[in-house]
Amino acid sequence: MTAPTPALPPFELPVSDLHSSVQDPSLGAVNFLNEIMQRYPHAISFAPGAPYPVFLESIDVQHYMDVFAESLKSSRHLSPAQIQRCLHQYGPAKGLINDIVARLLHRDEQLIVDAASIVITVGCQEAMLLLLRALRSDPNDQLAVVTPCYVGLIGAARLVEFDVVPIDECDSGIDLKQLRHACCEARAAGKRLKAVYVAPDHSNPSGTQMSDITRAALLDLAAELDFLIIEDNTYRFTSADESYPPLIKSLDRQHRVILLGTFAKTCTPGARVGYVVADQPIRSEDGRKRLFADELAALKTMVTVNTSPICQALIGGMLIAHEYSIRQLAQDKTRKYRKNLDCLLTALDEHLGDLPHVAWNRPNGGFFVRLRLPVPVDESLMALSAEQFGVLWTPMSHFHIDGRVSHELRLSCSYLSEQQIEEGMGRLSRFLHHLTTPLSAGMA
Ligand SMILES: Cc1ncc(COP(=O)(O)O)c(C=O)c1O
Repeated sequence: MTAPTPALPPFELPVSDLHSSVQDPSLGAVNFLNEIMQRYPHAISFAPGAPYPVFLESIDVQHYMDVFAESLKSSRHLSPAQIQRCLHQYGPAKGLINDIVARLLHRDEQLIVDAASIVITVGCQEAMLLLLRALRSDPNDQLAVVTPCYVGLIGAARLVEFDVVPIDECDSGIDLKQLRHACCEARAAGKRLKAVYVAPDHSNPSGTQMSDITRAALLDLAAELDFLIIEDNTYRFTSADESYPPLIKSLDRQHRVILLGTFAKTCTPGARVGYVVADQPIRSEDGRKRLFADELAALKTMVTVNTSPICQALIGGMLIAHEYSIRQLAQDKTRKYRKNLDCLLTALDEHLGDLPHVAWNRPNGGFFVRLRLPVPVDESLMALSAEQFGVLWTPMSHFHIDGRVSHELRLSCSYLSEQQIEEGMGRLSRFLHHLTTPLSAGMA
């Protein structure tokens, strides 16, 4: 008889064996935003930047797929079998709907870009990851970001070990003096500030819109100090009138700007379709002419291979059906989100106007408002607000590179009806009055 083999101790993977990004707070923040509402199902939630759910109830997926299939037949002269293959086989890494996105940028923005300079990505998030992976070539490379900043960008930077330098947001968009200083400081330290990330049209989390003058000045600074500009246009569609400032990309005569976009807020986040316009010519040693988009597409083959053709067909069909215009496609959404923002700002005035040391900004578009409190804002305060007062929001520390303590929180108005905003603001008001009354806060 053979002796029984001794039981092996269960294997445990030490976290120290894993890449540092696994433990990074910015990665937790995305999940936090996704899960927080499930934890407090009865709370009114000013936390998610997700689309208003009603907009997702009646998307006729089959209809839009048919519209796209029809366009393959009429414009590319594909047979039914070829169309089936196009939708169900692996596809080109750069994408299927690049020409449609190029048309939309021309139609809505008068921006002329070659379809070959576009890569269709799995959401804007993949575009960020590919872009930062490609740009970060040396440990001394730095990425400047307007702060507070979208967590998805911070997380992607962590994944590729890009050293992130925060630059303060200001009323006109970005503190250019600070950016110049950061650039010069990097040089003096033997480092290189390679790019700056901005969301000039109603940033997440602040809703701030960059002024015309700052857009032009940022481009000038990029040319002078030799860095790239990463422009994220996620919330641009919420600018209602025709007098919105130009895309920085539209002012770009030098290929300094890389444009990021998503169809998550205008079509559906479930399709996970975004894009990057990367028209920078690549100077290569073998003399072959390539665009930066080609390099990003090469990286993409090792990440997601290609963006789902079925999802691209849905988005492509939606765009074709609305004459290649996001402005047209998202008309009712633009109206709704602007109404919600007005409603939120009015409710803030009505409910919180009498509170000392409580202040907020007044964005003219986007999903978000920044609210400043006289006390530090963290997750335990948020839990108290949700449990005892039935209202949720996001601590601003999530949007700071170092997760520092902040006195601010982010209010999002996209996910709620006007009635919910009004009711939610009543609850927030009760919470903040409780919090700032010395007796009830235990300070008397
Ligand atoms: C500023 C900003 N950029 C990009 C994204 C990500 O878009 P996607 O869902 O396409 O990955 C978001 C999502 O909320 C965002 O707020």
